[in-house]
Amino acid sequence: MWNCFLTRTSRCFSTSAGNKALKWWDHVAPAPKDPITSVTEAFLADTSPTKINLGVGAYRDDEGKPVVLQCVREAEARIAGCDFLGIGRESVSSAVSSKLVEESVKLVYGKNSDIIKEGRFAGVQALSGTGACRLFAEFQRRFYPGSQIFMTDPTWSNHHNIWRDAFVPERTFQYYHPDSKGLNFPALMDDVKNAPDGSFFLLHPCAHNPTGVDPTEEQWREISYLFKVKNHFPFFDMAYQGFASGDLDRDAQSIRIFVEDGNLIGCAQSFAKNMGLYGHRVGCLNVLCNDAKQAAAIKSQLQQIARAMYSSPPVHGILLVSGILSDPNMKALWVEEVKVMANRIQSLRTTLRKSLEQLSSSLNWEHITNQVGMFCFSGLTPEQVDRLQRGFHIYMTLDGRMSMAGVTTGNVSYLANAIHEVTKFG
Ligand code: LMR
Repeated sequence: MWNCFLTRTSRCFSTSAGNKALKWWDHVAPAPKDPITSVTEAFLADTSPTKINLGVGAYRDDEGKPVVLQCVREAEARIAGCDFLGIGRESVSSAVSSKLVEESVKLVYGKNSDIIKEGRFAGVQALSGTGACRLFAEFQRRFYPGSQIFMTDPTWSNHHNIWRDAFVPERTFQYYHPDSKGLNFPALMDDVKNAPDGSFFLLHPCAHNPTGVDPTEEQWREISYLFKVKNHFPFFDMAYQGFASGDLDRDAQSIRIFVEDGNLIGCAQSFAKNMGLYGHRVGCLNVLCNDAKQAAAIKSQLQQIARAMYSSPPVHGILLVSGILSDPNMKALWVEEVKVMANRIQSLRTTLRKSLEQLSSSLNWEHITNQVGMFCFSGLTPEQVDRLQRGFHIYMTLDGRMSMAGVTTGNVSYLANAIHEVTKFG
């Protein structure tokens, strides 16, 4: 049987000893470059002192450096003083994991929510937002085989990979209007209406990635109502809570509207950006259920999926996040620090727009301040993005998305000049 396989396969060759052997990996071609991480790679390889990285959506301070929040420093100090290893890694892992979930869901539903009191959610810790989405995609395929997922056009590039790898076919629905650089609300509503009843939708509850365009509260209410009528399932990827308005509760308002309307929902959360813990991969997945019994069943299924994929995530980051969220003083400090980060980005939006207007750019730059969160969907063409990179050492994704966290008071006028240079002749 094995010989037969050897003779049949096209990846066979004869060794000098005359044996048949497989050319195991000759058919593997390089994977296409990731549109976001490849920008970081190119930026790091650039030796120019004036280079600017507007690629990855991770927070930076006004010197362009990654930030370790004060609340994280304090949590680190507390962890260092504890003998966690003495009581065994396993018990630490499950206890802090439950704490993390318990605290994370308060950020989604509100700290006094009945959902939490009644245990009506299935929550598991996840490897940041990506891991939470991946777990859900797998869960969706297992329990709704053949279902598809509707994604905003455009959406975060990795969403496509995540649902593709879970073998869930993707559809898009209209979201962004390139002319207004805002929301195409009527088209969005049409697509939601025309989707088959009971479809899965992937929504960004705040600070949409990549466009920075969010529906208004009134528009969310209309969307939520239509979801209820159509019996669609909304899955929220909340990767930037706090960055749209500076207020964690306000940024969760869209989700709470859906819940008030009686929709069941799923939600991925990430602490990569709002706690500056990108490398720690801390996140949470929760699915809102009809009752505690259903929640227990779904939780056990999610745990089983995670167990086969990676068993359990590393414990250090969870200790940090659960430590911060469960201590009122540390949480208050974090809430303040989120505001500071959101305000810094907002003020740089204003400065960038003003600087472009002062250069007498004939283009309209209002969208820089109309859009919210970490990203500005600039409207720059791939050619203009390429000229910014080659001529000015300014890096962003080819779709013209700028991570505003990379803009500083020191580089904003250089950036405005460069944008003006590449856009002034169209
Ligand atoms: C981004 O969109 O840049 C962030 O979500 C970071 C990432 O991992 O892609």
